[in-house]
Amino acid sequence: MTIGIIGSGAMGAGIAQVIAQAGHSVCLHDTNSAALQRASTSIQANLRKLSEKGKIKPEEAEAAIGRVRTCTDMDSFARCSLIIEAIVEDLAVKQASFRDIEAVVSDDCILASNTSSLSIASIAAACQKPERFIGIHFFNPAPLMQLVEVIPAVQTRPGLAEEIRDLVQSWGKLPVLTKDTPGFIVNRVARPFYGEAIRILEEGIADMATIDWAMTELGGFRMGPFTLMDFIGHDVNYRVTESVFTAFFFDPRFKPSFTQKRLFEAGYYGRKSGRGFYSYGPDAVPPEP
Ligand code: NAI
Repeated sequence: MTIGIIGSGAMGAGIAQVIAQAGHSVCLHDTNSAALQRASTSIQANLRKLSEKGKIKPEEAEAAIGRVRTCTDMDSFARCSLIIEAIVEDLAVKQASFRDIEAVVSDDCILASNTSSLSIASIAAACQKPERFIGIHFFNPAPLMQLVEVIPAVQTRPGLAEEIRDLVQSWGKLPVLTKDTPGFIVNRVARPFYGEAIRILEEGIADMATIDWAMTELGGFRMGPFTLMDFIGHDVNYRVTESVFTAFFFDPRFKPSFTQKRLFEAGYYGRKSGRGFYSYGPDAVPPEP
């Protein structure tokens, strides 16, 4: 089975690694050749590190690396049975992209989006065959995170969600079926987690490092909310908050914050840009509670 992935950023590269490790051939496409090169380098480095640590055999790492092909055009999507989209979190861009994809792929190719927050029905609506469309939502970093949300749209043909759930399970992941509602499960629960943390900061109740420390050391979370938002990227995280807020008809529970909006507008996306709530340059001072 050959699987196509469109978008080779943090998520596309991670998903490509998962799928190649599971034994499938992968066509990884991005319009940006530098992003493709970065993805290729990171997949190779991750797999070789796993083999150095003895988690996989060296020949397994090399075989998985050999299964990932990168390309700046979509021609190779013609032989794919499934396409997973992981491009920018923007409905119009995703819809336009699926129109282009449908012009290339075979009639029985399944189409999926890794969107964090957009309605699967609204992306499917742009397709000529919306019944073959579904959400497959991985978490960051995809090779490490077990959970995958599988989200059928109202248009999705009966049975497809179960087929995808079984496929995702065969990749060693833990899929959960969820309804097509804003933020699905995890990103809905996560909005107040981030939102309240930012409000606590804005109200001067505690600083970022203290809030992060309290949630990791005492709350048992792997990352505190500010570290996690910087890790996800404010370009992605802010857009998701805005999208969930709008999709819930402006319910104040999900209201975005100006503090995060300003980071997004300034291009302070977090780790990926070297600065977000925290700084990540070589001279950066690690935060202390
Ligand atoms: P990213 O910004 O790291 O990567 C996006 C990639 O898509 C870039 O390399 C860009 O060049 C490429 N791209 C943009 N438009 C394109 C087009 N029309 N055709 C081909 N390539 C195109 O973004 P990231 O973080 O990988 O997120 C991608 C998607 O995954 C978004 O929908 C996001 O909501 C979702 N997601 C993100 C998570 C995260 O923690 N970052 C977690 C789960 C889902």
